[in-house]
Amino acid sequence: MTTIYEVSICCASDRVNDLEDMLEQAHAISITLRNGDTNNGDPILEGEWRITQIIALLPSQTDLVAIERTAEVLGCHGFQSRLIDKSEWAEQLIQTQADLVVGPFVIGDPRPSAKPSQIALEISAGLAFGTGAHETTAMCLEWLAERNLSGKHVLDFGCGTGILAIAAMKLGASSATAIDDDETALTIASENATKNGVKLSISDRLREENQFDLVTSNIYADTLIEYKDQVEHVLKPGGLLALSGILESQSTQIEKAYERIRFKPVQLRNDWVLLTGLKQPQER
Ligand SMILES: C[S@@+](CC[C@H](N)C(=O)[O-])C[C@H]1O[C@@H](n2cnc3c(N)ncnc32)[C@H](O)[C@@H]1O
Repeated sequence: MTTIYEVSICCASDRVNDLEDMLEQAHAISITLRNGDTNNGDPILEGEWRITQIIALLPSQTDLVAIERTAEVLGCHGFQSRLIDKSEWAEQLIQTQADLVVGPFVIGDPRPSAKPSQIALEISAGLAFGTGAHETTAMCLEWLAERNLSGKHVLDFGCGTGILAIAAMKLGASSATAIDDDETALTIASENATKNGVKLSISDRLREENQFDLVTSNIYADTLIEYKDQVEHVLKPGGLLALSGILESQSTQIEKAYERIRFKPVQLRNDWVLLTGLKQPQER
């Protein structure tokens, strides 16, 4: 039996990057982040977590005493470790990574096989968000699939893995711009675009000189409000907007903030909302 260590460490969320760097240097096989305050922390709210629990898989020869000591120096706590069977873990991973069907898309890593009527998306998430499994991504994908994107210029603000921008290109968009302020996400989005044979325009910030027919943004409500002027500005008059990453209790606040968008009734999946609307053709 080949064994590996599963290590769990809790730390203040602003120390996560340092801890991840240390675990990567120790040749971590995988690193998973969870909300350290509750058991049901949704990954989309990661930026709002106070405490993060990091679960890492490490080779069996790892010096765990050194890992625990460095974690303590970084102010982390709750160090736990156990040996697990590598083949069991690999099997679990394969099961959790089964191909996912969302609307016309079949999403997988490696490349899923798709029927002629379906669209295959090969998405490796790594440390970025956006496999299609989360309600917010799934609702955005379904919404995109119901639009005629032929000849349209699409923006995904907060692209994560690039899944929405890649999906837009597969649906016939003329161009898709993928923006994220996380460098890792941009690298992953670029790799995913290549794997799917599409070209994305990738950037770390929203440029106000660009204009789009259709904008998707699946970020936290606070960020959507912070960037409302820029998002409304880059959307052409008559253009379509889809906002997600919003809890039901936050949707009225968002609708009020985006004054130039005529919103349709909200779509709800579990606690998550998709808000879609049209930018009014006339500036007020
Ligand atoms: C919930 S993920 C969405 C990923 C993908 N679009 C999807 O729908 O699955 C939100 C992404 O927004 C990015 N993000 C958060 N704040 C941002 C900001 N101010 N500017 C650009 N990207 C941001 C995060 O790094 C993260 O990758």
